[in-house]
Amino acid sequence: MKMTLKVGLIVGREWSFPPAFIEEVNRRDQGVTAEYVKLGAPRMDDPCEYAVIIDRISHEVPFYRTYLKQAALAGCAVVNNPFMWTADDKFFGAALATSLGIAHPKTVVLPNKEYIPGIVHEESLRNLQYPLDWQGIVEYVGLPCILKDAHGGGWKDVYVCRSLEELIHHYDTSGLLTMIVQEFIEWDQFIRCICIGQDKVMPIKYDPKERKYHVEHEHLTPELGQRVIADSLKLVRALGYDMNSMEWAVRDGIPYAIDFMNPAPDMDIYSLTPHYFEWAISAMADMAIDLAKNPRRQVRDLRWDALFTHSREGGGGASTAQDTGPGGGTAFGPGFMGGGGRGEGGGTDPGSGSPSSGSGDPSGAPSGGGEGGGSNAPGGSSHDAQGGSSPIQGAPNSVVDASPAADLEPAADASQPPHGGDERGGVTADGGGPAGSKEGGNGRSAAGEGGRAGEDTSPDAASRSAQEQA
Ligand SMILES: Nc1ncnc2c1ncn2[C@@H]1O[C@H](COP(=O)(O)OP(=O)(O)O)[C@@H](O)[C@H]1O
Ligand SMILES: [Mg+2]
Repeated sequence: MKMTLKVGLIVGREWSFPPAFIEEVNRRDQGVTAEYVKLGAPRMDDPCEYAVIIDRISHEVPFYRTYLKQAALAGCAVVNNPFMWTADDKFFGAALATSLGIAHPKTVVLPNKEYIPGIVHEESLRNLQYPLDWQGIVEYVGLPCILKDAHGGGWKDVYVCRSLEELIHHYDTSGLLTMIVQEFIEWDQFIRCICIGQDKVMPIKYDPKERKYHVEHEHLTPELGQRVIADSLKLVRALGYDMNSMEWAVRDGIPYAIDFMNPAPDMDIYSLTPHYFEWAISAMADMAIDLAKNPRRQVRDLRWDALFTHSREGGGGASTAQDTGPGGGTAFGPGFMGGGGRGEGGGTDPGSGSPSSGSGDPSGAPSGGGEGGGSNAPGGSSHDAQGGSSPIQGAPNSVVDASPAADLEPAADASQPPHGGDERGGVTADGGGPAGSKEGGNGRSAAGEGGRAGEDTSPDAASRSAQEQA
């Protein structure tokens, strides 16, 4: 008897992605059906009736995350891996990207400004230096710089700082958050990639000033397109994320990884445009069906453990593309994770007594609400794999890398301009775009309810003002 495999969906109030996804999986009639998950009070030894669960909202509903770890133990392939998602933050991401040879803005992590009441600064924080070397931080990252929440999402708590005073001022308002300070990339091109199944990448032109995806074919040269795709694949594979969106800011021809911690990426039809929405639905259905039919072990997906051996052997410190040999990801030691204090780690009171700059919050106040999407999709329903319908000049529509070549090998040198046909190769373009586009929607925004970590649905106030002020 042939069993029907089930894909379950856990969602918030997003309205366009869920029914389209469920319909697409069911329409394909491949022995896999999709439906919404329903949960009461799960027991610790409950079997999981789903081969795959797609999780779009556990960053805002912690009960789901807690359940999903048990579901993974019970053999369900959870997308995205709840263990990795829980572990992720933007400082780790910066270090990981750098270890992989991917260009990343220089980044520093700061001790928290404030703590829970039980923390007594003089007694509980003896491991912290005081005061912080603010001058050294600013010399390293340069000005203007970006201050943002290491665990943030949805453009919340992102500040552009043009002076040391502004940096300290915003830091002083950061409360219980752990913040990172980052080099500001003055970009001349901005790209957002939707990455699905660790093998498909769609690099979309994105304008943070307008807060809009644009359907613009051939907005990337072959060299830049290949590099962005290869670097995106390298990162999602290292992180083990089966759905993610990644932001790239291109300066002097080099794509810098700006934000790749979006494990519940915005898939709203108005955000993505009907053109890319269709692509995303199709790619998500491919991924879910494939995972249902080809089970894999969940926690083994944390590919970056391959880098640990290197950091132990290589004398510590941040590894670079140059000193991480290709194939450095082959011999794994036992999972070794240096340091990493838990609980009350972090923070003197370095900002106390520092003057506020008095300038306004350059990131502005983001608010929800869609824009009138859809109008910017000329030719949006043409998915034929022919020239003119791809983001990359001269390449067919959907961009698929079926080769494992872009795995954990560090890239050559992140600071070099891209060049064609390099060792990141194996990125092949492949057809497979979806059929015609859908209309409609009412502009409600996507996965997240509150615009916190893991989703990228909110407006781009920070980068808008950043660009205006730059
Ligand atoms: N280092 C940076 N250089 C230039 N712009 C940046 C930088 N970091 C963030 N931004 C701008 O701010 C926006 C929000 O920051 P991001 O890291 O994406 O936060 P979130 O996870 O909240 O979306 C980005 O889309 C980008 O436009
Ligand atoms: Mg972002």
